Formats: sequence, structure tokens, C-alpha cells
Amino acid sequence: MTHRKALIDRVATAYREAYGEPPEQIVGAPGRVNLIGEHCDYNDGLVLPCAIDRETMIAIGAGSDGAIRVRSADFSKDGDAFVANAPVVPADTDWKNHVRGVAHFMQRRGIDLPSVNLAIAGNLPIGVGLSSSASLGVAVALALALRSGADLKCADFAHLAQQAENDFVGCACGIMDQMASACGEAGTALLVDCRSLERRAIPIADGLAIVIIDSGIRRTLTDSPFNARRSECEAAAAHYGIPALRDLDTETLVRQRSDLDDALFRRARHVVTEIDRVHEAIDALATTDLTTLSELMRASHRSLRDDFEVSIPPIDALVSSIAAIVGDRGGVRMTGAGFGGCLVAIVAAEAADEICGRIIEESSGMADISTSAAIYEPSAGARLIDW
Ligand code: GLA
Repeated sequence: MTHRKALIDRVATAYREAYGEPPEQIVGAPGRVNLIGEHCDYNDGLVLPCAIDRETMIAIGAGSDGAIRVRSADFSKDGDAFVANAPVVPADTDWKNHVRGVAHFMQRRGIDLPSVNLAIAGNLPIGVGLSSSASLGVAVALALALRSGADLKCADFAHLAQQAENDFVGCACGIMDQMASACGEAGTALLVDCRSLERRAIPIADGLAIVIIDSGIRRTLTDSPFNARRSECEAAAAHYGIPALRDLDTETLVRQRSDLDDALFRRARHVVTEIDRVHEAIDALATTDLTTLSELMRASHRSLRDDFEVSIPPIDALVSSIAAIVGDRGGVRMTGAGFGGCLVAIVAAEAADEICGRIIEESSGMADISTSAAIYEPSAGARLIDW
């Protein structure tokens, strides 16, 4: 059985167990891996993530008594319930707040929410930087839009999920994860301009494979310095008198530095150079230019480690040992917010299986790390599942 089919069965079973009848519909929204363009989204910059073939699914059916009822197959069994068309307030649990937050912001758009029953299940690892949270929020937005008949586009789902995460969960995340989860297209990466929200599907050449390495080191964004990094970027932008670091170029960065604090200067330098690397990666991805991709990923990791300071020593060690395994067959770097989580490697497709095998074999001897590595397919964004 494929992992997708297994998830459909699990979410449908969870629904049946909770509500005593089969669901009427199932929606899915994928996680994402960011290929390059890290910590650029909340600086209005460019990012290049791709949706992956692991996701959150929601089984849906008609509810009763004007309530939205929610069960999760993966989290607390107690579930949640709130009134569809009364003010929604945060609960005490993150997963519930992704749902409540989306409902709240849909109400704020004037959408009449119907009474529905929802059951949630996912096959994304949690807290590793593959956007299980964003995929949950996007799936909820799609589910509630379908049932309310609201005419929303994929970028609206992304916004609703981000607003829920910002205001109900307390993470000042940008829009990248939700955009990839909502608007991804199979076989491609998604270039997003996080100011205009313009997006373009960037082909990933057949000769390339995406390998995700889970370091086994877990973190949550709300208790990491993620929100602090965002404030530092805003402070650096204020120093340069610009709306966001996206508006800075390398020359101005240096020329107008004056008394800017060293850490803030380095945060700004990361964002400026990382946006340049996104531009360069686009052609390299489409033409299987492994040399350029490898150099860009190396430079991105170095910048995240030294300038943005979101890597940690065991992740740096893992990146070095995987770079040695990959050699001239691709590139590797940390991906996502940092402070643990996953690495992404873009490698020659023909070598991908062997590379995954060697990563697992060699990392089994590394202290404090339990690593997995697998090939992931660039996948379509949120959609109604045909089951
Ligand atoms: C997390 C956030 C995103 C983005 C990345 C870093 O995944 O949710 O908005 O800022 O970190 O690129």
C-alpha cells in the first residue's frame, strides 16, 4: 500500500470512529521543503520551495447544531468543538489553534461557516522543518472553503493559514510554507515573490532528485529564536530606511552600514545574498547544473550558519559529512527555519538511491543523531482527494 493510500484509510477510519459514519469528502495539503531562499519570506524576498509527497488530510462531513467538530488521529484524542458562526477564541493546544485560527480569519472575511465534522491525519514528521503546521492550516482553509462555498484561491488558503499561525499559534512565520502547500504544482518548485505574492512554477529537470535528510533533532518554532530573527531583520531594515531587507543591495548594505550593530549587519547580509542565490538557482534547476547548485547550497548553508546564526553544530557536521558523500553529484544544506530539523540535498537522480543508503549507513555512527534520508517527489498543492 502506498503511504498516500494508507493515509486516506487512516483519516477515513478516524472520521468513522469519531462520527459513526463515513466522510463525504477528503482534502489534502502537502508539506514542503525549501530548496533555497531561507528566511527571505518575511523580508518580502524570493523563495524557492517545493511541495512534497507527504501531507495532512482532512476527512469532512456535515455537522450538526451549528458546530465545527474536530478530531485528530495524531494528537490528543479529546478533539475540539466550537460554534461555527460565533467569535472564535484560541484554545490551549497548537493543533486546535491552527483550525480555530483559520475559522476565525474566514469569519473576518465575511464567510458564513457551515456546521461540519472534521477528522485530521497526516504523514509528515512534526517539528522537523517540513511544514506540518502550514499543511494543517491550508487543509483546514480548503475544507472550510469547500463546505461554505466561498470563492477562495490557493493564495487565500495560504494567507488564512499564515494568519492563524501568526495570531492564534504565536509564530511570526512568513508566507512561504503556506504558499508552497497551497499552490505547489507537481514536478516543479514554486518561485514566490513574497511581496507581490506572484508565483511561478520552476521546472526541476528529470535528471535531479530531491533528498531530504531528517537529522532527528527536534525543535518548535515558538520556543526557538525564530521570532527574534524576524525582529532583527525589521530593525536592520529600519536602519537602512527601507520597508524590508528585500529592498537592499550589496553595495548599499556596506556603504550605509555606519553604526549598524554587527549581528544586525550579518542578518541583513544573509537576506541580500540569499535572494541573489534564489535567482541563480532557477536556471541551474532547469538545466541540471549540479556544479552551480552545489556551490549555491554550500554558500546558503554557510550564510545561515555564520550570518543568520540559525544552524547548530551537529547540523553543520551532518552537512559536511553528507557533502562528502554527495561529492560532485549535487549539493546539500540545512532547510527550513533551522535550530535542528532537516537538510535538503539536490542530487543527480541516478545517484540518489545510493546517496540515501550511504547517508543512513555513515550517520549511524554519529553521536546524538539518528538520521533518515529519502527521495521526495515535488508534488501538487492542496486539493480535493479522489478516493
Ligand atoms: C519557517 C517559517 C517560514 C520561513 C522559514 C525560513 O519555515 O515558517 O515562513 O521563514 O522558516 O525560511
